[in-house]
Amino acid sequence: MRVLVLTGAGVSAESGIPTFRGKDGYWKNFDPTRLATPEAFARDPQLVWEWYSERRQRIRNARPNAAHEAVARLTRHLGDFLLVTQNVDDLHARAGIPAERMVQIHGDIFVTRCSRCEFKRYDYEPEQERAVPNCPDCHALMRPGVVWFGEQLPWNELKRVENFLDGGACDVTIVAGTTATFGYIIDWALQASRGGELIEVNPEETPLSRLATRLLREPAAIALPRIVDQLISARHPRL
Ligand code: OAD
Repeated sequence: MRVLVLTGAGVSAESGIPTFRGKDGYWKNFDPTRLATPEAFARDPQLVWEWYSERRQRIRNARPNAAHEAVARLTRHLGDFLLVTQNVDDLHARAGIPAERMVQIHGDIFVTRCSRCEFKRYDYEPEQERAVPNCPDCHALMRPGVVWFGEQLPWNELKRVENFLDGGACDVTIVAGTTATFGYIIDWALQASRGGELIEVNPEETPLSRLATRLLREPAAIALPRIVDQLISARHPRL
């Protein structure tokens, strides 16, 4: 069985991480053009850095929920599987998904990279000081390793998604906890699911809803464990 899972902020909502466009979402209270663009960083790097430091702290304090655990369980039962997440948190990874089965298409909040050269490092520990760090190689300001509005998706990660999609249609494609605002999420879901099942898990309607073959209007932590149980038992039918 070949399965693609696409996730967004809604999957981490029940771990206490705010979504972006939901009721208490980040973009309801903050202006993305002041926090999540290269221009915002050029204008006020300290403000942007502090916002990402606070988000890092919140993520470090959070735990994976039943939705993350269900997706991780699927990876243990299926050889032909990819998770593409828009989430920059590490909750899918902490639930046990190996890096080679997961693409973080919007980057990783715990990566700090140079805004000028290629230098990057993994920064999991809380920052000792709140100042924006400087690159040890070229001394330019360091920034979070996430994709901002107006930036290209990371080429290597994009290639990994394309390679998986080129490998054939999926029997099941699950899209969970995303408003599917970005066209590529819809494109990938449709490309993967051609002829197969396209399941949307989201309490709210999205642009993908009318294209899905099955709609689960439930929180991901409720719906995903059930779907995963069904998929695993379909794969190992009882004798
Ligand atoms: P959004 O905040 O746009 O959407 C979250 C979705 O999750 C909404 O459709 C909610 O209805 C749904 N949702 C809320 N709680 C849920 C739950 N418990 N279970 C299932 N679904 C739930 O987040 P994304 O679609 O992930 O990018 O946003 C995509 C990108 O836009 C983010 O990666 C970020 C943002 O701007 C960048 O910063 C580049």
